[in-house]
Amino acid sequence: MIDQLTIEKILDAANIVDVVSEFVTLRRRGVNYVGLCPFHNEKTPSFYVSPSKGICKCFSCGKGGNAIHFLMEHEQMSFQDAAEWLANKYGIPFRKRELTDSEKALQNERESLFITNQFALDFFKDTLLNTEKGRAIGLAYFRKRGFRDDILEKFHLGYCPDEPDALARAALAKGFTRESLIKTGLCYERENDGQLRDRFHGRVIFPVHSISGKVVAFGGRIMSAEAKVAKYVNSPESVIYSKSRELYGLWQAKQAIVRKDRCFLVEGYADVISMFQSGVENVVASSGTSLTPGQIRLIHRFTNNITVLYDGDKAGIKASLRGIDMLLAEGMNVKVLLLPDGEDPDSFAQGRGATAFQQYIDTHQVDFIKFKVNLLMEDAQDDPYSRSELIKSITQSISVIQDPIVRSVYITECSQIMKIDERLLINDVNRRQREQAQAVPQPARPAQSADENAENPQPTDAPADNPDAPAEPAPQPQISAEDKLRQDIRALKRDGLGPMMDKERLLSQLLVRYGGKVMCKYQDEEGQDQDMTVGQFIVGSLQNDGLEFRHPVYKRFVEIMAEHLEEKDFNTEKFFMSHPETFVSLTAASLMEERYQLSKLFKDNMPTDDEAHLLKLTRHIMADYQMEVVRLEIKKTEKEIQEASSDTLASLQTRYQQLLAARAELSRTLGERVITL
Ligand code: CTP
Ligand code: MN
Repeated sequence: MIDQLTIEKILDAANIVDVVSEFVTLRRRGVNYVGLCPFHNEKTPSFYVSPSKGICKCFSCGKGGNAIHFLMEHEQMSFQDAAEWLANKYGIPFRKRELTDSEKALQNERESLFITNQFALDFFKDTLLNTEKGRAIGLAYFRKRGFRDDILEKFHLGYCPDEPDALARAALAKGFTRESLIKTGLCYERENDGQLRDRFHGRVIFPVHSISGKVVAFGGRIMSAEAKVAKYVNSPESVIYSKSRELYGLWQAKQAIVRKDRCFLVEGYADVISMFQSGVENVVASSGTSLTPGQIRLIHRFTNNITVLYDGDKAGIKASLRGIDMLLAEGMNVKVLLLPDGEDPDSFAQGRGATAFQQYIDTHQVDFIKFKVNLLMEDAQDDPYSRSELIKSITQSISVIQDPIVRSVYITECSQIMKIDERLLINDVNRRQREQAQAVPQPARPAQSADENAENPQPTDAPADNPDAPAEPAPQPQISAEDKLRQDIRALKRDGLGPMMDKERLLSQLLVRYGGKVMCKYQDEEGQDQDMTVGQFIVGSLQNDGLEFRHPVYKRFVEIMAEHLEEKDFNTEKFFMSHPETFVSLTAASLMEERYQLSKLFKDNMPTDDEAHLLKLTRHIMADYQMEVVRLEIKKTEKEIQEASSDTLASLQTRYQQLLAARAELSRTLGERVITL
């Protein structure tokens, strides 16, 4: 982990216009820059970048934040990875937090495997492009398949010499260990004498990238049509590669997937590359196996919509149908595109440009359930047994769909296509749903991509390793921290705390913008004049009154501020914006926006650095907040008085009088008249 001071330095150095410009074309507009939002599809620019504040924001979809947040969203990186990326870009030296020994060992092993793979990738690329044999054999092969040079580069394609151990020798000479060559699967030990052998020798190379672009594995294709050897050889599983958690091409495709809000799913390396080359860039491959839930979640991070491409092979299609039910169960909208007989995505794309391909997609893409019904209907005909199998299979697919409206639409449509009584289908779907509900005591594994797995090793002192640890808590439905936070905030609003949280927001905004600024003097116990900062005032007032913010993030702001009250010239803006808790830094970034102008509370636009003005502003906002607290207390007490028994009534009434007095006092501070009943 990078420490926070370094993160501040990174954000200081990072020019937000520069960072965003790597991914979005920006134009100057006044003091800001605008461009087309990379997070949703739009025709007129609503993505703003403010160089002075160091933040960006889409006024249509709301996404944005500082440079780190932008990268997190755009590149689907973790906070730490995004910070590291910027540190490298701006040449800022950084040291990571000390890891525990077991973390270190795991981290070191992973790092060394990544570095080894990167070396191999460079070696394969170099061999392909710069050696005689590489060009004569590997490059000639790719050319024959119609791959353009820019695409070879984009997918880092390579060639492994047809010698038993060319890579092994080159790697050992560079100081790489046998162990790392074996653990990555690049090499293996020959059985009889333990000599290192290159797994991919004599093959063209397709590297597999993790979602953030690290090389986790390779696929190697033989170029001759020998029946004896496997057409493809792939890296074995390792600590950095879990086949079921990667999708070939996702790293190259993810931005297009977001832009198009759709992902095309194909089978093989060549399919991905040819489609990408023809201009359909939002395409990934499951690499010849059926989809896993982990892979589905990877896609789901970027879009809800998936189109599965099939060539005409019926057996292949049928084998894949079950996998598609998983897509439906994950709540994805699934379409199917059947290619003309004898074509696979690779051959089909090679013959066409992007427009022709797109046209074919638009006219031939069909809904999955309807596709499945029609496909199975062809077989079923009048045979009652296959007909009942068909119904089972269709109701199974429909029953995994979560959305009841979508389900009922499908039931109606399928009953028409199959000429079956709708009620029959409904009953069967309902029965299956009941069965499924009973049959899943096991919670789904947390959505964890190989990336998270490989690049952010979890500490290994999990309960499983500790015999004294209490039994694991009952399984909870999987919900992200972010969703949980949103839920909590929505619940607070439902409870009528919206206005309260608005006031908390204003105070938080003061903390973020001016928390460390002096606003007045006060006398300490020895009669000495001391500076009082905005942060000290806000934290102190809350502590005096025993109040806590209700909004979970604003509450964190106060806690964080409380830890830094004694720091001289504490730069709260920087501190909050670079805070490693993403909610904190993201919220801070949004509080920096123009939209919430604190000084609008005052008609005239006084300079906010002015101590007297800060004092007035802070006290006003604090009083405003306290007024809301008192208002709610009054309401609550009134209700309690109504329901009170005779022995509690007196004390409640005293409290009520105190609250009314407090309200009067506050209204004087606020300079407003409060109408009392
Ligand atoms: N595959 C594999 N091992 C094999 C055959 C296939 O790992 N022996 C995987 C590869 O990821 C391959 C995918 O399954 O890309 C689809 O297989 P196939 O359609 O046979 O290969 P293509 O990708 O079409 O390859 P090519 O066009 O080069 O023949
Ligand atoms: Mn092919």
